[in-house]
Amino acid sequence: MKYIYVVYCLFLLISCQNSKQEYQDIEEIPMASTFDPLEAKKLMETHCYLCHSPTADENQGRIAPPMVAIKARYIDREGYNKAEFIENVKAFVAHPTEEKALMYGAVKKHGLMPKQAFPEGSIEKIAAFMYDYQIEEPEWFKAHWEGHGNENWTQSGKKLEEVDEVKTYADIGLDYALGTKKVLGKNLMEAIQQKGTMEALTFCNHQAIPLTDSMATQFNANIKRVSDKNRNPNNKAYAEELYYIAQFKKELAEKKESKPIALEKGDKIQFYYPIETNTMCLQCHGKQIKPEVQRQILKLYPKDLAIGYDENEVRGIWSITFTKKTNE
Ligand code: HEC
Ligand code: HEC
Repeated sequence: MKYIYVVYCLFLLISCQNSKQEYQDIEEIPMASTFDPLEAKKLMETHCYLCHSPTADENQGRIAPPMVAIKARYIDREGYNKAEFIENVKAFVAHPTEEKALMYGAVKKHGLMPKQAFPEGSIEKIAAFMYDYQIEEPEWFKAHWEGHGNENWTQSGKKLEEVDEVKTYADIGLDYALGTKKVLGKNLMEAIQQKGTMEALTFCNHQAIPLTDSMATQFNANIKRVSDKNRNPNNKAYAEELYYIAQFKKELAEKKESKPIALEKGDKIQFYYPIETNTMCLQCHGKQIKPEVQRQILKLYPKDLAIGYDENEVRGIWSITFTKKTNE
């Protein structure tokens, strides 16, 4: 009984450390919200399997170690975290040298990996995928790796299937909304910090819709920010949008967390999610806007309704339409 208790405590300790580690990793990878594991897997199969085949024989006809061997060497032996793993894979692939190589045996057996050009950004995605997910592992590998003094080895990472199933239309819509928010927010922040509120106003006036549209093209979706108290007449909310704005306001007042809404409409999904204010927004949407800013707003938007907000209020919603995904 005592023994089980000790094991249980150890388990708690370990699992606690693991979850902390995972949290740090998420923080370090900025594009996590739009990361598509299936795309990354495909990139790996297209560009790496040519040499790092998971099905080639252990000894005959193999021209490079399987990808899982790189994972085991870098993550289990070297102890790299996600950021370190991505960085080291990137550095090696960009310019393979014997000094950088950790897999001395493989270099000796197969020769150094040749320097090749891969699509921009692909190595990062492949490495992130390798770190987060279980990848194809030849049957012989576990015994081989354990034979090199690595006892009780199992591959780290999530199973891809499990993750696929939980990705709902609401999750996909949220990815689009947050991905767009990030781009708008970053640009707005920079404009305010570098040039002040007046210039940032020009930025919003000129760039808010084009930036949103460019993200829409990237995601192959129709993305709008609409409001019941809109500034730009093109951002006026209509019936169903107004209904959900009211619902999100009610939830916020009741301190309930608002969940994204995904409605199925034929072969399309209609998605809604609230946009809330923080202190930064009040410079242009608040109750005490500087007179020169206020004058400029009214010059650009004579019918402006988007003022008088406090922080932490529903300023509007994301209204996003996209086509249902079919299983190809
Ligand atoms: C043309 C063959 C070839 C292709 C294609 C290839 N590799 Fe390699 N790679 C090798 C060989 C051979 C080795 C083992 C020798 C070595 O370590 O340099 C290797 C080793 C590696 C290593 C371990 C380096 C070390 O020793 O520490 C990494 C990381 C790596 N490859 C990443 C990749 C990734 C990612 C891709 C796909 C984008 C890829 N490789 C595609 C041939 C290839
Ligand atoms: C520098 C001034 C400025 C700041 C700061 C600012 N906005 Fe705006 N906002 C604007 C302008 C100008 C528009 C109209 C853009 C257009 O013409 O498409 C706008 C439009 C919007 C819209 C689209 C609906 C509408 O009213 O046209 C939303 C939603 C919005 N802002 C939310 C926010 C939030 C949330 C923040 C804080 C995170 C914020 N804004 C900060 C100037 C600003």
